[in-house]
Amino acid sequence: MSQLAFGESTGKQLEALYQIGDAVCRREISRAALAARRGERILDVGCGPGFFCGELLEEVGEHGSITGLDASPQMLALARRRCAGQGNVTFAEADATALPVEDASFDAALCVQVLEYVSDYPKALAELRRVVRPGGRILVWDTDWATVSWHSSDPYRMQRVLAAWDEHLAHPSLPRTLAPAIRSAGLDRIHAIAHTFAATAWDVDTFGVSLIPLITDFVPGRNGLGEDDAAEWAAEQRKLGERGEFFFAYTQFCFTATRPA
Ligand SMILES: C[S@@+](CC[C@H](N)C(=O)[O-])C[C@H]1O[C@@H](n2cnc3c(N)ncnc32)[C@H](O)[C@@H]1O
Repeated sequence: MSQLAFGESTGKQLEALYQIGDAVCRREISRAALAARRGERILDVGCGPGFFCGELLEEVGEHGSITGLDASPQMLALARRRCAGQGNVTFAEADATALPVEDASFDAALCVQVLEYVSDYPKALAELRRVVRPGGRILVWDTDWATVSWHSSDPYRMQRVLAAWDEHLAHPSLPRTLAPAIRSAGLDRIHAIAHTFAATAWDVDTFGVSLIPLITDFVPGRNGLGEDDAAEWAAEQRKLGERGEFFFAYTQFCFTATRPA
């Protein structure tokens, strides 16, 4: 079955999702870990709707630059619109496994919530190493979707929905194998930090609540689930929220590493 397609409608959903509090918090944590300095050249692989590009532009200042690459023209259109009028940012369509940029041409590169969609992620990691200068940094962020802990009075349906949702990407538990893969790509000083996002109320600022429409759209036709199953699953979550019984948590991982000098 096909993965999630990053076309126009998913683009709009992600653009909304990335404005919620949890997503803003994820970017703050990532940018702190990347520690961009003024004047640096930063590459954002799988830049999506361009939130990181816009924010990093402010950090690198007028003497720095940001390059955003993405495989989806629709996502790039959103990113271009977000950063319109800013001179030191460029965007291009590219696959993470074949970056159209010179060797050692960046001080740092980030790849947030992207490699879990890339079948040949070791090749993408090798590309990240190739394009940062010796001593340059990389940041890779992915979710272990097997860590999802989600309350339901119908655990069997929840399990079927989550199994169907696992089909939205290539590697549902990528963080488990990222450290050795990053090492094999020729990077060192590998450091991983786990970040758990939890929701205990019907709060649209949380990933738990805001993921529900994406999951409801994606799962029908997979794992024996129909549109009614998806709608009933979503309706139960809303009811749990109304009763003050909503509970969701999952863990995402931030990996940083350095290209040996
Ligand atoms: C979940 S979004 C993350 C966007 C962005 N990194 C962020 O955190 O705001 C994943 C993005 O990765 C892009 N993507 C998926 N597979 C890709 C590939 N093989 N090469 C380049 N981009 C890819 C998608 O088009 C989408 O924009």
